[in-house]
Amino acid sequence: MRTQAPLESVTIRAMNMMTLQDILYTQGFGTRRVCAGLVQQGFVAVAGVPCTDPAMEFVADGLRFSVQGVLWEYHEKAYLMLHKPAGYECSQKPSTYPSIYTLLPAPIRQRGGGAAAGVQAVGRLDQDTTGLLLLSDDGKFIHRMSSPKHHVPKVYEVTAKHAVDDKQIQKLLVGVVLDDDPKPVRAAACAQTSDLQLSLTLTEGKYHQVKRMIAAVGNRVEGLHRARIGALALPTDLKPGEWRWLTAQDLASISAKS
Ligand code: URA
Repeated sequence: MRTQAPLESVTIRAMNMMTLQDILYTQGFGTRRVCAGLVQQGFVAVAGVPCTDPAMEFVADGLRFSVQGVLWEYHEKAYLMLHKPAGYECSQKPSTYPSIYTLLPAPIRQRGGGAAAGVQAVGRLDQDTTGLLLLSDDGKFIHRMSSPKHHVPKVYEVTAKHAVDDKQIQKLLVGVVLDDDPKPVRAAACAQTSDLQLSLTLTEGKYHQVKRMIAAVGNRVEGLHRARIGALALPTDLKPGEWRWLTAQDLASISAKS
């Protein structure tokens, strides 16, 4: 005969009860032992109330807690946006410039034990490119966002070296051939915004794609900024080098058409 789980245990599982030690551990505050130590030493407060028992259980989802006075909120998976500044590489092991990962707080960098499965950039921007960069530790999300199959439009603001003209815009829209692939790549949208500037929308992300497309029409990129992914625009109050958690609305707007 099949026995049913008591209603109470079902509810508790659905509410995602976790010990304080495990909450800190999953959020990147160190090994389980280090996390227990932080709690026992009185460095952790939950909803403003100090808690010194690492085994104390809380509903993890949305839990607000502080560690050494810094406020945090529990996130089962990390979904972030970063305003990437110029002069940073999107690599964990940069060759010349500092890594964008140094712009994130240590616990976010250390989620997943700081392993390769931790927070990663969703695609890459060049060292000198600025703008909207997404990061996550959700492998499926990273795959979906990076897959050319999903055609998530990305809007770039391009500053060119030479005056932009209609002929160049038409070529970008019709398609240009890049050196490594005979199949032409085209902009999903392209509009001139000033003498030297244009807004270019791409649905794929080949290596140096914007720079190579602009070079293919006889111009040159002097400045590149990613302003939008899907319908998610880089917020005007997020300064270069700053990051924030994505809201549920942000996540929905990424896959919506802009
Ligand atoms: N295309 C480029 O050429 N560089 C970037 O950083 C992004 C898109």
